[in-house]
Amino acid sequence: MKKIRYGMVGGDLKALIGEVHRKGIAFDPRVELVCGCFSAIDELNLECADYYSVDQDRVYFDYKDMVAEEAGNIDFVSICTPNFVHYEISKAFLEAGVNVMCEKPLCFTVEEAEELAAIAEEKNLLFAVNYCYSGYPMAKVMKEMIAQGEIGDVISVIGEYSAGCFLDVLHEKGETSKFWRSDPKFSGISNTLADDGTHIEHFVNYVTGLKVKRVAATVDRFGKALDFNDNILVEFDNGAHGAYWFSQVACGKSNEMVFRVYGTEGSMEWYQVRPDDVIFNKRGEATRILSRAGVGINPEAAAKAKFRIPFGHPEGYYVAEANIYRAFISAVMKMRDGEELLEEDLDFPDVNTGVSGVKFVHAVIESGDNDSKWIEIEE
Ligand SMILES: NC(=O)c1ccc[n+]([C@@H]2O[C@H](COP(=O)([O-])OP(=O)(O)OC[C@H]3O[C@@H](n4cnc5c(N)ncnc54)[C@H](O)[C@@H]3O)[C@@H](O)[C@H]2O)c1
Repeated sequence: MKKIRYGMVGGDLKALIGEVHRKGIAFDPRVELVCGCFSAIDELNLECADYYSVDQDRVYFDYKDMVAEEAGNIDFVSICTPNFVHYEISKAFLEAGVNVMCEKPLCFTVEEAEELAAIAEEKNLLFAVNYCYSGYPMAKVMKEMIAQGEIGDVISVIGEYSAGCFLDVLHEKGETSKFWRSDPKFSGISNTLADDGTHIEHFVNYVTGLKVKRVAATVDRFGKALDFNDNILVEFDNGAHGAYWFSQVACGKSNEMVFRVYGTEGSMEWYQVRPDDVIFNKRGEATRILSRAGVGINPEAAAKAKFRIPFGHPEGYYVAEANIYRAFISAVMKMRDGEELLEEDLDFPDVNTGVSGVKFVHAVIESGDNDSKWIEIEE
């Protein structure tokens, strides 16, 4: 079988998410890393290429050179750079005919996001955005069970993403922080909301099928340029309401993603710190813990979750990433081989999910800056 070849932009060995991509992809033997522009720093670029046995003549010091040389030689590119270059790099690869996997948030503005979606469609290219949490098997279990009516009609959703990684910023003098994340030039109009909140926005939509129609928010910047703590009331397209909290100044918290959904017939709760379990309540029945073992999960939901190893051996974050890539790579492969893509082949967050994330960010910031006024999110 001819392997799928990919290149990467960003993600040197000192970076955070690039290594998660490479490890997630490495679960799949059908793929090889053949080229890259891994870093803004030349030595780190070469070091990463060397570590991954990428030919030195396929290492690029400007992504534009990589586009020019590699467009016909790779099946997709993974973009793992900071937010400020997502748009221009994605656009350059799309225009050269390359399928794209890009980090979130997709880009800075709604116009840029819609332009990327339009180019992908016009060129008939696949474009994934790395909202990796919907790759967790139990997210797929909940999605299927909710679609089958196990909790009835959704009446309320609670979403949280909390971390304490920026708490020190509130105690420093001078510059906001040493990280690009809190600098609008590199991050865009938002820090915490764009970084972590967009994961919740996508996850809730993926699992429940509900879209956020409007938001009323408080956005706490603590005198800095960008947000570090956001509280949001949301209204969904079915009229239900919910509450989201995103914070990077929550003492003691560390990537604690929480999802709770309440319906007319039942409820579900999922915590990223225990990703293999779902707390499931059915009206009038005792509380159950559904586990990745499959016991108590209906067979269709278990089949869609595609568990990799027996329960008891934790799968975790890398496997969530691998599941997003498994779907994306399979679709890229089918497309390369001229096979028809079915709806089930597209079970990964795509460019329209990215557009939705950018719209959500802009609506929340607008509300926060206008005394928590309700802001509609346009279709
Ligand atoms: N999906 C997730 O769960 C998740 C988690 C963390 C970060 N992210 C996203 O991933 C992106 C990167 O975040 P990170 O934490 O890995 O950042 P990082 O600062 O750790 O790494 C960024 C990398 O990009 C490189 N880079 C910067 N500009 C470049 C350019 N013009 N050309 C080539 N390389 C360039 C840097 O040298 C570095 O290797 C961000 O958009 C962030 O929001 C997503």
